[in-house]
Amino acid sequence: MTDLVNVIKNAQSTHSLSESEIVEILKNDTVNELLFDTADKVRKQYVGDEVHLRGLIEFSNICRCNCFYCGLRKDNTAVQRYRMALEEILLLAQKAKDFGYKTVVLQSGEDSFFDVDKMCAIIREIKKLDLALTLSIGEKSYEEYKAYKDAGADRYLLRIETTDRELYKKLHPSMSFENRVRCLNDLKTLGFEVGTGCLVGLPHQSDESLARDILFFKNIDADMIGLGPFIPSPQTPLQNENGGTLIKVLKVMALTRLLLPDINIPATTAMETLQENGRLLALKSGANVVMPNVTDEECKQKYTIYPGKAGLNNTAQEYRNSIVKKIEAIGRTISNGYGFHKKTV
Ligand code: 5AD
Ligand code: SF4
Repeated sequence: MTDLVNVIKNAQSTHSLSESEIVEILKNDTVNELLFDTADKVRKQYVGDEVHLRGLIEFSNICRCNCFYCGLRKDNTAVQRYRMALEEILLLAQKAKDFGYKTVVLQSGEDSFFDVDKMCAIIREIKKLDLALTLSIGEKSYEEYKAYKDAGADRYLLRIETTDRELYKKLHPSMSFENRVRCLNDLKTLGFEVGTGCLVGLPHQSDESLARDILFFKNIDADMIGLGPFIPSPQTPLQNENGGTLIKVLKVMALTRLLLPDINIPATTAMETLQENGRLLALKSGANVVMPNVTDEECKQKYTIYPGKAGLNNTAQEYRNSIVKKIEAIGRTISNGYGFHKKTV
């Protein structure tokens, strides 16, 4: 126990932990408060008190993949599928800009309707609005990623989901871990800011495997790490499994902040879904980014990755006002910069 206290205190300045140290911290809940406080200090020292807001646009819920955990998987026929037109996407991007958000995140299922030409047209139009642009649209070829970069996209989010290869294989029919890593490496090579991350609390996921996920984030030199608890989704093969806990996901996040002190870490919607103010707890335990949803009401209701998603009953305007108030109430400020990753280590 005293040992773990020292391990955490050392990591505050060395930003390194061994796999077995991470596992011990994950297994031992008596050091949680120290872990969260230390991650908060590291966050303050490296990325300051500013919180970056990124406007999220869920522009298509059509997906050719069948990830076992996800409500949008292809075989889920209960989902009403939608795809936005270019004009709708641009209206939402403009709305995000009017709210003062400096980044727009375009997220969708793996929808091949949006081929490289369509995507590049969307990217070019959004970049005319003088916003930073993040894509979260799945696994593509090097050439496609290059075309997006050339069209002006700045960042790309692609979670590794889990580094446990056996588990990865079980949960992702006709996908491969190797290709996912290839995608992340291609994105890095092309000069994107790369965000990845994992699900916490998947069935058969061990603390050892979570520790390896965290070390993977460091190895791949991620610019951003997004983490969320697994939340069982109806009409999926994992619907009757247990979900992840907020404590475990906050611990994984705080450990990530210790090891990657200057990156961007969002307080995610899935955290808020597990517990009201889960997102604020995350902001006080290492996170420095929030991604408010700007998707219109009708589409947002259909973007059912998991049930009970926080914020479904608020308009984008209401959501913006409430999150800004909450952020300021904990002594933090809203950034008016683009929030790029400033490497200091
Ligand atoms: N619970 C929590 N997060 C999920 N995701 C997909 N399904 C679920 C679920 N049931 C996450 C994945 C994916 C992101 C877009 O949503 O990590 O990368
Ligand atoms: Fe499709 Fe993404 Fe859901 Fe997998 S997690 S089924 S790729 S939307």
